[in-house]
Amino acid sequence: MISPSITVALEVNGHTREVSAMADTPLLLVLRNDLALNGPKYGCGLGECGACTVIIDGVAARSCVFPLAGAAGREIVTLEGLGSRQAPHPVQQAFIDEQAAQCGYCLNGMIMTAKALLDRNPNPSEAQVRNELSGNLCRCGTHIEILRAVLRAAHLLTVDARP
Ligand code: FES
Repeated sequence: MISPSITVALEVNGHTREVSAMADTPLLLVLRNDLALNGPKYGCGLGECGACTVIIDGVAARSCVFPLAGAAGREIVTLEGLGSRQAPHPVQQAFIDEQAAQCGYCLNGMIMTAKALLDRNPNPSEAQVRNELSGNLCRCGTHIEILRAVLRAAHLLTVDARP
């Protein structure tokens, strides 16, 4: 059955954006094709790799399997909603400092998953970081640098942020 076309107001990175598409269109496609937000990547399209991760109402979510209809009225944050090239978010800065990127395709998912983790647990153990990122795949195998980057980000956001 063909899903109906709907028009919804999305709250993305602090701005209201109105889009029209089929109700079951994956949020990832709307973000990339309609809103030109290319931070979230298309990897598997099956909710398995994490490349498309965004934060919805504070929780890391796979946007490739998240229907547009379910996103209406929810607070969505994409990679573009964190920092900029000139002023990276501490999580982004930590990934730069640790040189965590190789091909870089997984980094959106790694950074957004780490951001959601650190928002709810500012001082995670190494085991907690490993567990949180276990569903995000990096085919280059830079997991150790990514792990270090998330722990560095936790440090930047807590210890270094103290007055
Ligand atoms: Fe969404 Fe792989 S592209 S989990």
